[in-house]
Amino acid sequence: MEIIDLGLGYPAETLLPLEELRQAALHRLALPDRSLLQYAPEAGNASFRQTLADFLTRVYGVPVSMENLLVAAGASHALDLILCQLSQPGDTIFVEDPTYFCALDMLRDRRLRIVPIATDHDGLNIDALERQLQVERPKFLYTIPVFQNPTGTILPTERRQRLVEMAQRYNFLIIADEVYQLLGERATIPPPLATFDEQRVLSLGSFSKILGPGIRVGWVQCTPELIANFRTNGLLLSGGGMNPFTAAIVESALELGLQDAYLPRLRQHYALRRELMTQALVEVLPSGATFLAPSGGFFVWVELPAGIDATELSKAALTLGLGFRPGALFSGTGNFTNCLRLCFAFYDHTALRLGCERLGTLLHRYL
Ligand SMILES: Cc1ncc(COP(=O)(O)O)c(C=O)c1O
Repeated sequence: MEIIDLGLGYPAETLLPLEELRQAALHRLALPDRSLLQYAPEAGNASFRQTLADFLTRVYGVPVSMENLLVAAGASHALDLILCQLSQPGDTIFVEDPTYFCALDMLRDRRLRIVPIATDHDGLNIDALERQLQVERPKFLYTIPVFQNPTGTILPTERRQRLVEMAQRYNFLIIADEVYQLLGERATIPPPLATFDEQRVLSLGSFSKILGPGIRVGWVQCTPELIANFRTNGLLLSGGGMNPFTAAIVESALELGLQDAYLPRLRQHYALRRELMTQALVEVLPSGATFLAPSGGFFVWVELPAGIDATELSKAALTLGLGFRPGALFSGTGNFTNCLRLCFAFYDHTALRLGCERLGTLLHRYL
């Protein structure tokens, strides 16, 4: 039986924009400009940064300047770069509980002390944050304020304001991982977190979720002072700015309007998949199992009755041809053992439906 791995947080392969990238590559490689094959300045080529700033201004609906952008090899690299430049082993970093499990891996790689802060249906719980701030001050807070991975929640405007006030009062920086910012309807999502405090927020973005992860082009948006610091990073000094060749092709995709045209199509496809999954879950989940219905992003977070161990369940799921990510993986404290994450982005409608039915069969057996 073929496994349907709803744990996989990948974009749909069939939706990856091969034709758009072919056009963009042909356009870029026909230009008499060899700079894309040269080492790039540490922050990335100026023309790409300007084109990126114009794009973000357009799609975020708030002004973004190239002076505030550094090109990274994806949001993962951007996060690691920040940690490399601005933290020391043993520093304290606050994270949401639960959070993106690979971010936890990166924090552990840098020997940071991880302190999880409670979340609820509106993302980071600011009261819980404030209580923890009475106990200790972090160097950073790492948050995914929009279509959180794994819960799909969105941090509302009022909480964003309180969060940046905390950062000002208690003197820490906020790393806002906003890779899903463009995978929802703008009218229903608050603007990116840097809009609330350009000095304190470092915003991570990426073409991984809006073009393709193989491109390995993302960015960090922060103050020019921080960018000047990042430019002294040994990796960037040695290898130059990240991925100038692919960045130049992405630049053409932006200039030719290919990215702008692709984005609403992609959103529409994901909205259909999201609806299909949430509808199927309503039908198949036994009573006692609940889920948060997201309005964008990639993920659905399912909560089972307390005492059910989703890690154990994930082994049994494989025998039914189903994969998912157990909740404990996303917790710095081993919480959420009774939760699991599903991704609706990767599979087509038939496979999504079948995957949900298998989950229903499994849970009816165990609950
Ligand atoms: C919250 C979050 N940050 C970062 C990434 C990785 O982004 P990139 O491919 O740009 O490194 C992911 C991918 O799943 C993610 O969910």
